Amino acid sequence: MNEPAPDATPGLGWGRRYLMCPPDFFGVFYEINPWMHTEVQVDAERARRQWEGLVSTLKQAGAEVELLEAAPGLPDLVFTANAGIVNGKQFVAARFRHPQRQGESAKDVAWFSAHGYRVDHLPPGTNHEGAGDALPFGSVLVSGYRFRSDAVSHAEISRLTGAAVRSVELVDPRLYHLDMTFCPLDSRRAMVAPLGWDRYGLRVLASLVPEPLFLEDDEALSLCANSVVVGTTVVMPTCPPRLGRALEAWGFDPVECDVSELLKAGGGCRCLTLALDVELGKAPS
Ligand code: ARG
Repeated sequence: MNEPAPDATPGLGWGRRYLMCPPDFFGVFYEINPWMHTEVQVDAERARRQWEGLVSTLKQAGAEVELLEAAPGLPDLVFTANAGIVNGKQFVAARFRHPQRQGESAKDVAWFSAHGYRVDHLPPGTNHEGAGDALPFGSVLVSGYRFRSDAVSHAEISRLTGAAVRSVELVDPRLYHLDMTFCPLDSRRAMVAPLGWDRYGLRVLASLVPEPLFLEDDEALSLCANSVVVGTTVVMPTCPPRLGRALEAWGFDPVECDVSELLKAGGGCRCLTLALDVELGKAPS
């Protein structure tokens, strides 16, 4: 057990309740990112066990998990991070870039409507892939754009949620969502993959995150940033020793959770979860 760091800062303030979707119809049936290869076999049983392992790891860390029912023909529905943006009892539905995923939105909207959320929509033609491309840090929402989300969507998200949005251009097609490059840890710290960000984005980071933990390129490409933070537990697809030591020195407990079957579709631990307990800070007026 780690002693909390003497300068321990308050945690994230969110990340204790998640929406997840079982991989009942998961597979790699199309290719919309550099990780996906339809000729690579997915072991459905193994995917199921890995997903269940993630659920129990999150629960052990103290998180609650709610379930979205899987649907045939929507293999990527398992990546609930992309469903939309949650802000209290408001849900801003994603608009997916690729037609292959657009059918997911009806399922996501149905779940949030049935659970008492007010559902808002981005204007037609404006793409944004939800929390996969938008993570709160402090009182602002950091949002990525280029591969999946459009830069113009950020102003719209700010208008709909009232949150101040900091835009970051993603530059590496292998790290096509923000949550593969950025992982808020607490109010002062975040993991960041410089491989995926341009110089302007790194300037945004410097002004926003007092203590960044920079990932090496190979760590970034093992999707180390695609981790789920529950209090001081960091649930990671993999955790190289260097990174584990750095996290432990800050008082975090890194826990590896093998999601290698899901990685065949280009998604890790974070992609498989959508935090439901997020309240976005209001933009300063
Ligand atoms: N196959 C999915 C896609 O390409 C993976 C989604 C990963 N999600 C994420 N939040 N990074 O859209």
